[in-house]
Amino acid sequence: MTDSKTETANIKAQKLNVQNQKARQHHETPKTYHVKSFGCQMNVYDGERISEMFKDQGMSEAASKDNADIVVLNTCHIREKAAEKVYSDIGRLRRSDGSKPMITVAGCVAQAEGREIGRRAPSVDIVVGPQAYHRLPEMIESARQGKRAIDTDMPANSKFDILPRRSKQPRPSAFLTVQEGCDKFCTYCVVPYTRGAEISRPWSALIDEARALIDGGVKEITLLGQNVNAWYGEDEKGNRQGLDGLIRALDKLDGLERIRYTTSHPNDMTEGLINAHGDVESLMPYLHLPVQSGSTRILKAMNRSHSRESYLEILEKVRKVRPDIALSGDFIVGFPGESDADFEDTLDIVRQVRYSQAFSFKYSSRPGTPAADMDNHITEDVMSERLQRLQALLNEHQFDFNKDMLGRKTRLLLERQGKLEGQLVGKTPWLTSAHVMAPNLSIGDMIDVQITEAGPNSMTAEPIFTANDTSHG
Ligand code: SAH
Ligand code: SF4
Ligand code: F3S
Repeated sequence: MTDSKTETANIKAQKLNVQNQKARQHHETPKTYHVKSFGCQMNVYDGERISEMFKDQGMSEAASKDNADIVVLNTCHIREKAAEKVYSDIGRLRRSDGSKPMITVAGCVAQAEGREIGRRAPSVDIVVGPQAYHRLPEMIESARQGKRAIDTDMPANSKFDILPRRSKQPRPSAFLTVQEGCDKFCTYCVVPYTRGAEISRPWSALIDEARALIDGGVKEITLLGQNVNAWYGEDEKGNRQGLDGLIRALDKLDGLERIRYTTSHPNDMTEGLINAHGDVESLMPYLHLPVQSGSTRILKAMNRSHSRESYLEILEKVRKVRPDIALSGDFIVGFPGESDADFEDTLDIVRQVRYSQAFSFKYSSRPGTPAADMDNHITEDVMSERLQRLQALLNEHQFDFNKDMLGRKTRLLLERQGKLEGQLVGKTPWLTSAHVMAPNLSIGDMIDVQITEAGPNSMTAEPIFTANDTSHG
C-alpha cells in the first residue's frame, strides 16, 4: 500500500497515462471478456455498463475468467480486506500453460492506488478509475501494443454520456445510477477520494434511461448513489427537483411497478422525500439509512454530522407516514476511541429501531483518512467480540421481522429460479426474499401470495391466485 501522500497524488492523476515498457506482453485484440464486480451496487451498475460497451464493440461474454481474452476486476477499496483481495485475484488469472488474459483493474482500488498497482502486480495491463470507463477502448489498444494504460481522470458525468444503455436481457429489476460521489467526508471513509465529489445526473438522461429499462421488461428500478438522496436537478419545466421529485416522475411511467433507492444519508432525508414514502404507491416500504454508531460522541468523531437523536427523529417521521416501512442500516464497530459505553449505545439504538436487515463491519483503518491518524485504535479481539454481539442482535431482529410476516398477504416480484423444480424466488415490498412453488409462472411476473413459513434469511409463500396480474404492489 502507498503512503497517504502518494495515494492522494494518484487519486488526483488527471491524464490518460501510458507506460512504455518494452518487456510487456503484446496481446491479440480481445474477442471475449469477463467482468467481475466487487463492493457496492454502484460497481454492479458500472460492471453492467462496461459489459454492454464491450458487446457493442463486438466482443462476447466468456463463460468464465479462464476463457476470456480480457478480464476486468471491478474493485472495492472500502475496507483493507476488500482492497487487498485484488492482488490475490490477479495472481489467480495466470493459466496452467503460463498465459494470461489482458488484465484490467477497474473501480475504487484503481482510483486510490493508480500506478502503484502496476508496481505490485506487473501483469496488470490496464488501470481504470470509476469515472474513466468510457476510455477503455483506447486503453485496450495501448495494452494490445504492450503498453500499460492508466486513467484515473474524474470528468463529471462523461462516462454516462458515452457508455451505452440497452437492456438486452429481459430482467425484472435493474439498477439506475442517478448520483455519484460524496462530499460528506466521514473520517473513516475512502469514498470521497475514490469516487470524487457529489454529482447528479441530469433529469432527462435519467427519465430516458428509465424508459429504456422499462421498454426492455424492467418492472422495478433501484435508484443508486453513494448519497442517492443528495440527488438534485431541473425537470423539463426548469423547476428544481430533489430525489422525491424524480421518484414522483418515475412513478408516472407506465409499466414501472416498483421504485427503490439506496444508499441515503440522514442529512439528506428531506421532508419531501419522507412524505413520498407516504403517498407514492410504487415507492417500496423499505429504507436503508445507515447510522454507523448509536453514540453521538462517536458520530461526532466520525464527522457524520447527525446525532443519535436526530437520526431517530427522522425514522419517527418516516414511520409516521409509512408505518409498515422496513428499515435497514450500516454499522461500524471499533471506531478509534469507541468505549464499552459507546458500543452499548449502538446496541441500544438497534433495540430501539429493530432493523429488518443490516450490514455491520469492523472498523478498518484506511490510508489517507483522518481516522487512521486518531489515537486509541481498538484491538482486533475487542472488535470481533463487539461485532459478534451486534450481529447476534441484528440477526434476531431480522428473524423477528420475517416471523411477523407469517400469514400475511402480499405481492412478490419474481426475480429468479429457485433450487427446486418449479420454484421461483421473488421479493416482497420489504425487500425480503420469498420462495414460491409456481411452475406456471415466470421470472418478471408479479403475484399475490400468502407467507406460509419464515426463516432467518428468507420466507416461503403460496400463490393466492396465479393470474399474471401486474397492478402496483
Ligand atoms: N455512502 C454510504 C455508504 C458507503 S460505504 C453511507 O454513508 O451510508 C458502505 C458502508 O461501509 C458504510 O456505511 C460503512 O458502514 C462501511 N464502511 C465505510 N468505511 C469503512 C471503514 N473504514 N471500515 C469499516 N467499515 C466501513
Ligand atoms: Fe463514506 Fe460517509 Fe460518504 Fe457514506 S457519507 S460514502 S460513509 S464519507
Ligand atoms: Fe467499494 Fe467504491 Fe463502492 S470503495 S463500496 S466500490 S464506492
